Amino acid sequence: MRQAVITGVGGPERMALREGPDPTPRGREVRIQVRAAGVNFADILARKGLYPDVSRFPAVVGYEVSGVVDAVGPEADPRWEGRDVVGLTHFGGYADTVCVPQEQVFEKPSRLSHAEGAAIPVTYLAAWQLMVVMGSLSADETVLIHNAGGGVGLAAVDIGRHVGARMIGTASARKHAFLAERGLHEAIDYTTQDWPQEVMRLTGGRGVELVLDPFGGRHWKQSYRVLRASGRLGMFSVAGSVSSRLPGKLKLLGLVARQPLFNPIPLMNRNLGVFGVNLGHLFTEGEKVRGWANAILQGVDDGWVRPHVDRTFPLADAGAAHAYLEGRHNTGKVVLVP
Ligand SMILES: NC(=O)c1ccc[n+]([C@@H]2O[C@H](COP(=O)([O-])OP(=O)(O)OC[C@H]3O[C@@H](n4cnc5c(N)ncnc54)[C@H](OP(=O)(O)O)[C@@H]3O)[C@@H](O)[C@H]2O)c1
Repeated sequence: MRQAVITGVGGPERMALREGPDPTPRGREVRIQVRAAGVNFADILARKGLYPDVSRFPAVVGYEVSGVVDAVGPEADPRWEGRDVVGLTHFGGYADTVCVPQEQVFEKPSRLSHAEGAAIPVTYLAAWQLMVVMGSLSADETVLIHNAGGGVGLAAVDIGRHVGARMIGTASARKHAFLAERGLHEAIDYTTQDWPQEVMRLTGGRGVELVLDPFGGRHWKQSYRVLRASGRLGMFSVAGSVSSRLPGKLKLLGLVARQPLFNPIPLMNRNLGVFGVNLGHLFTEGEKVRGWANAILQGVDDGWVRPHVDRTFPLADAGAAHAYLEGRHNTGKVVLVP
């Protein structure tokens, strides 16, 4: 088996390929010959030492794969063997072979390529949890999708369109035309515009009912301020730490120092809600996540889930894939192909 490993904290040059014996599926596990593995921003945070769930190196990250089952464990359902699947991996996805419990595996819709299959699990599940499960978005509401041109962002645009809500998004200007094609109603170039001011202008001074914010720190305060009465703020990453000029883990501390402290009384008096999402900490809630995944995969069949793969990289070039994402070049998903 070949795996792309993070050898230690640092830049994309810290990605390397290593070879080892093929894993044997145990218990209820199935073994997947990986045809495509999703790259997520969390993998970059991990490589930079900013992701507490990855604290030891060398580490093989990767939360999602698409491929073919070639072996099953003694307690797994033998009918999985030979099937095309997408799977959630609790790390280990940056590989050409990986074993996962059968409960984390789903039949790949035949209309999708493996690259498209690998683009679905993390982005759509996160967006689904943020918008449908915890955000309770409805057709008569407006949602602000930060980072709308990224992997989670485009998944959120698909879900918002399906719900029928009005969607405002922030993204670099060169992504705006594509976002409009995908159904985003208004795009704000956060690099040149005062985005909170723009959101208030676009909503006639009222604000929005839901904000999806992966940046952390002061950004969460700004997002909270553009909520309309009955609004909800969904927080789901500390990606802003990447841009901090502070060294090492101080980047995270800097963000924490500037984050909002939510007080129940103002929340009550302003009729607002705040919540957090971390899919990586939901592996104990397999039944719930399966239900969400089934709704999303049904969306593939029904045509409203449209995973967009911007670019694929060979597994051996995982460092280049990271650099591409970090350089803000991607619109949608980046995928590794073993
Ligand atoms: N909590 C969860 O369960 C969960 C699950 C999945 C993802 N997430 C979070 O969701 C966010 C999006 O994840 P993703 O995998 O879909 O990544 P992504 O959005 O595709 O990430 C790359 C994009 O982020 C934007 N960006 C903004 N600030 C940036 C910076 N300082 N450096 C580099 N890029 C920056 C760029 O778009 P522009 O050109 O428009 O600036 C860039 O193209 C991440 O923060 C991730 O940690 C959380």
